[in-house]
Amino acid sequence: MTHDGGSPSAGSVTGDWWDSAVIYQVYPRSFADGNGDGVGDLAGLIARLPYIASLGVDGIWMTPFQPSPQVDQGYDVSDYCGVDPLFGTMDEFDTLLELAHSLGLRVLLDVVPNHCSSAHPLFQQALAARPGSPERDMFHFVEGRSSAPGSASDLPPNNWQSVFGGRAWSRAVPGSATDTQWYLHLFSPGQPDWNWRNPAVGDYFESVLRFWFDKGVDGLRIDVAHGLFKADGLPDAPSATAVVDGLRANPLVSDQEDVHEVYRRWRTLAEKYQPHRLLVGEVNLEPARAARYTRADEMHQAFAFAFVKLGWDPAAWASVGAELEAARQLHGAAPSWALENHDIVRSVTRFGGGTKDGRELGLRRSRAALLALLGLPGAAYIYQGQELGLPEVDVPVEARVDPMWTRGGITRDGARVPLPWTAPPEANHGFSPATGQPGNPWLPQPEGWGRYAVETQQQNPGSTLALVTAAVGLRRQLWDQGVFTADDGGTWRVEDGNLLICERNAKFLVAVAMGTEAVRLPAGTVLASAAPLETDGWLQPDNAAWVLLD
Ligand code: NOJ
Repeated sequence: MTHDGGSPSAGSVTGDWWDSAVIYQVYPRSFADGNGDGVGDLAGLIARLPYIASLGVDGIWMTPFQPSPQVDQGYDVSDYCGVDPLFGTMDEFDTLLELAHSLGLRVLLDVVPNHCSSAHPLFQQALAARPGSPERDMFHFVEGRSSAPGSASDLPPNNWQSVFGGRAWSRAVPGSATDTQWYLHLFSPGQPDWNWRNPAVGDYFESVLRFWFDKGVDGLRIDVAHGLFKADGLPDAPSATAVVDGLRANPLVSDQEDVHEVYRRWRTLAEKYQPHRLLVGEVNLEPARAARYTRADEMHQAFAFAFVKLGWDPAAWASVGAELEAARQLHGAAPSWALENHDIVRSVTRFGGGTKDGRELGLRRSRAALLALLGLPGAAYIYQGQELGLPEVDVPVEARVDPMWTRGGITRDGARVPLPWTAPPEANHGFSPATGQPGNPWLPQPEGWGRYAVETQQQNPGSTLALVTAAVGLRRQLWDQGVFTADDGGTWRVEDGNLLICERNAKFLVAVAMGTEAVRLPAGTVLASAAPLETDGWLQPDNAAWVLLD
């Protein structure tokens, strides 16, 4: 395998650039607002692409901007091959793609194959068609159960619960005495699940993939990639608790064997293009199961979310790291590290114990963890704002819009607050030009947000932004110098009870001090650390270092 850090437009792509890539996740709603309506958009993103390029990353992953009623902030797609006017136009997307490529940035889009929006024309046609019709067979329309003789279909077909809370079924035509079918939605009622046992669904998605690949999009992030197929006959689940935590509580809707055939087909398609297109899956499963999605003829990557669920515990990190390494050895795909995304509580807050008081500690740990991840073998994904050390925001209850909040009492809004670009007095911290009307920005920025602003951090060599930019640059140099190679693996251990070590190869290791005492580093040259070293050769608690071994 080779490493290619060059521009995607330079014609030097080797086809496996992603193995070592750093990808920046853009949540367009909250990135930058070009037209002043309080919602981030393509125009805003185009204007700020040079900022992303200045981080030294290899590409961006954009969460959905396709037409959508926005019930789930775009994960309810009503037209897979369009641009929602909220975000702009297809012409703007084309401009964005071209500019990104000219800046050396690849562009990954989100594809949402488990469900669409209830406003999708194929779902609307299904609703209008009769029970048992081919239109209805594109989705899961099923007769319900009866609570008593004569009360036909008054209960849903089974006990499955929605990830967002409440039952996973809604009546096709509420109150109808003649159409008594229900349809399945593992998320909100506005997100009906496709029936992947119907080959027409697979054909439809192939046309969607072709549309974006033909445009020159470099790859796709696959939403709920381990969902898609449901157990034959849709039987009751062993437990009727909510299927939170990525569907895992209900094995009947997750990780069904048939799903792998989809990714084999998509991989074949991705490899018909030059350069090959990348497939990266949101596979929220334990490492050994997730690794099966990155077998040689399936996806190239699946996010390694494993550390997200762990505390600041070196033994737990080492053991999960070793599991991921075992999976890499079995199936060949290096981990794709991610500590944050738009669904997860910001790492500053997680590592700081969830409170405002823990923020300083959380920031130190989150910087250390991010530096560590950038030094590990594999790709790394950074979520917008993570490079600024943004904490989770406690969004006022009346401003929360996440359907998970309204249905299930859990909010993801706090990780989605619009980015601070400038410190006051500029309106909305430079996110949106419009001033002061309610709903602008779409989620309120908290008091003091300006302290994290890009502009402020660009002036400060000790900022998190400076740390991330330097680490990404050094990572590239180490590739160029041959210190990092594509054959690197991770050998994990804990020294002195709290020094987490991952030896990448005979020349380089990553160390994180996870205890309460300073610890001695292995002999070598410290190339980078999350905070300055107080004593040469020693790492203070909550600091991390990259060490070039003697
Ligand atoms: C995962 C996405 O990241 C999340 O935001 C969304 O709500 C669900 N999938 C459903 O599409």
